[in-house]
Parts: sequence; structure tokens; C-alpha cells
Amino acid sequence: MLSGKTILVGITGGIAAYKICELIRMYKRANANVLVVCTPNALNFVTKLTLQNLSQNEVAVEEFDVKDFKPEHISYADRADIMVIAPATANTISKIARGICDNLLTSIACAFTKPVIIAPAMNCNMWENPIFQENLHKLHYEILEPESGYLACGYEGKGRLCSLEKIFDKTVEILTYKPLNGKKIVVTSGGTVEDIDPVRYISNYSSGKMGLALADTAKNLGAEVTLITTKDVSRRYNVIKVKSALDMKSAVEKEFENSDCIIMAAAVADYRVKEISPQKMKKTSDDEITLTLVKNPDILKNLCDKKKNAFPPDLLSSAPLIIGFCAESENLIENAKEKIKKKGCDFLIANDISRKDIGFSSDYNEVTVLDKDGNMKKLERADKMTIAKQIFKVIYG
Ligand code: CTP
Repeated sequence: MLSGKTILVGITGGIAAYKICELIRMYKRANANVLVVCTPNALNFVTKLTLQNLSQNEVAVEEFDVKDFKPEHISYADRADIMVIAPATANTISKIARGICDNLLTSIACAFTKPVIIAPAMNCNMWENPIFQENLHKLHYEILEPESGYLACGYEGKGRLCSLEKIFDKTVEILTYKPLNGKKIVVTSGGTVEDIDPVRYISNYSSGKMGLALADTAKNLGAEVTLITTKDVSRRYNVIKVKSALDMKSAVEKEFENSDCIIMAAAVADYRVKEISPQKMKKTSDDEITLTLVKNPDILKNLCDKKKNAFPPDLLSSAPLIIGFCAESENLIENAKEKIKKKGCDFLIANDISRKDIGFSSDYNEVTVLDKDGNMKKLERADKMTIAKQIFKVIYG
């Protein structure tokens, strides 16, 4: 199943390290080449000799144990198709999230450009620590959350390494399931920012998380990705930072010709200030002021019109798929059905922004995907990466 693939297993210093011996055997049984790198603390829980025997490769721990012309961390990063860090301690996760490279494992993670799976395991209080959670959420890797139960430290709670089968299956899925291979996917995200003067603006509460999850997922599924966003995002794929609706429109239009799919997840301001004041507006003696707003172009509708004009029915299959979002605070499905007709897009993802547990700012979402033929598929509440994966499944089958 995994022949021809090289898996780099990173082991950090937690009691679950002993379980990784079996994971290595599972990879070997599936014919993978397994490289192992340990943090120095991991060797308190499992021996180098055991790992060497099981992986049938040398086990690396020291950064300056240079065997060829390349520094060790670069050589490892180049050789592997995937890196699986299990168990991943709070310490190692936080260091990777902050770009710290103080041992071989963290240095490899920093230099690694291919998919990474992280399977955390720790005490439940460490897992719930808000600083740790913030660090974990900075990572755009595949996180296999720990399970709840009896922990080695004597506590009951969330923190046990997830099952080895789950780690194995996720590795196989990432290495072999690439339904978006060869596709160029463009995603927009974040709320546009419409200037009033040099210090003030009009915007909205969009966090850009759903668009980012779609872009990350598309990348994981093999696509070439361009993310056009109003947020500061650092990713290894192409990220174009924009500010206003007009900036976003020209960035998206530049991508139109060469894309297979455009997903408009951004919350585009419907109006902008008619005249941006070049100087900071001064307070006046009046109790009210009036700002004149003018309509922004509807980027999504323009794209759909452009597609209709540029691709006659016999060429339609080679045109980019155009996907819209529909943010509603009431009558979700009714409004969504009307919106997909009005805009003319291929799919519309409807989400209810009145709920606090999903949508804007949340890491979770629950959406209904509508297609232009009137079919609907509800995707139950899940984290945004899972929702993103399910959206691509509905779109591409
Ligand atoms: N959209 C766009 N350009 C705009 C406004 C919205 O491209 N000027 C896109 C959004 O990115 C989204 C879809 O249109 O994919 C629907 O956005 P939404 O805010 O739900 O709808 P609106 O068209 O703005 O209509 P309303 O605000 O009246 O619901």
C-alpha cells in the first residue's frame, strides 16, 4: 500500500512513545521506508536500538551528526514524503508553532514542505492550557486530536494518544488520496476593508478561517492553490494579500483564465465610501455626519457572467467551477436558493452567521451545499478543515 513512500516518524518525549514501535511496524508491513528522528527526551521512553531494528534504518537524534554534504535536517526533510510526529508533546508543538529549531526534530519540521501529521499526547490540563491551544491552532498541519480516558499521569481526561490505526489510516489517506491533483484552485477569504480616511475603515467580522481551511485542504488534496485574502497569512502556497473589494476583484480576475475552481469565501463589503478623505477627518460641531457609500461590484456575479460569456455551452466543461458562499442571519435555505439563482454560480455554501458556535470567528462550521440544479447536502457541525474536505467531496465527488 505504501511502497515507494518514505515516512519520517518524529518521536518526542512522552510516555506514549513506546506505542510508536507498533506504528513503525504497521508502516513497514505496508512496505513504506521508515526514517525515525527522536528528540533527546524521547529516548527516556524508548531505545534507539528498538527503533533502529523496527525501522531498519539508523535513528537520528543529534543535529550535527552530518553524514553527507547536506545538513542532517535538510537531508531528512528532502527524503521523506510525509512527517508524522507522534506522540507530539506540548513543548514540541509549541516550539514548531513558533518556528523554534532547537533540536533535529524541530529543525526538520521547520524545513519540511510536505504534509505533516501531528498526534498530540499529554496531560489533560496541559491540553486545555489556552497558551498551548493557541500554539496548536497556529499549525496548519493535520492534527489528530488526543482521546479522553485514563492518563498515565493518573488523571482522567483528554490527552491520550489517538489510536495507531487512526494515525496509519490518515497517513495512507494523505499519501494516496489526491483527488485535486493537477487542479488550480483559487480561494478568497477574510472581510474586505474599505477606507474612510487614513485612520478609519468599514469592514466586517469575517475571520477568514473558512477560506483558509479550504485553501489548506485543497493543498493537502493535491491542488495548486492561490489564496487571495485580506488577512496576514503565511503559507507555502501562493498567498495574495488584498485590502478592498476592488483590490480583491482585480486579483481574482487575474486568476480566472488559469483556474479550475474559484471559491469566493470572502465577506466582500457591499458598499464602499464614495470619496476616501486623503486626510484624517476632523470632528465637527455637528452631532451627525453623513458618509456617502457607493455599491461595490459583485465579484462573484461578475465571475459567473464572465464564465457564461466566455464559455459557450459546448465548452462549459473546461470553464472554472465557481463557488459562492452565502452568509445569512435568518431564512438560510430560502435566501440561499434565491442567491444561487441570482448569482449564477455552480455551488453555493450556505452558513448561518447568527449562531455563536459556528461560522464567523469560530473554528467550527455547519453548512448546506446547494448546486445549481437544486440539490442540497447538509454538512453537520465539524471543525472547518473537516467541513472543507467534505465541501470538496461534494464538488468533485
Ligand atoms: N460577494 C461578492 N461581491 C460582493 C458581495 C458578495 O463576490 N460585492 C460574494 C461573497 O464572496 C459570497 C457571495 O457573494 O461568495 C454571497 O455573499 P453575501 O454577503 O452572502 O451576499 P450578498 O451578495 O452580499 O447579498 P446580501 O448581503 O444582501 O445577503
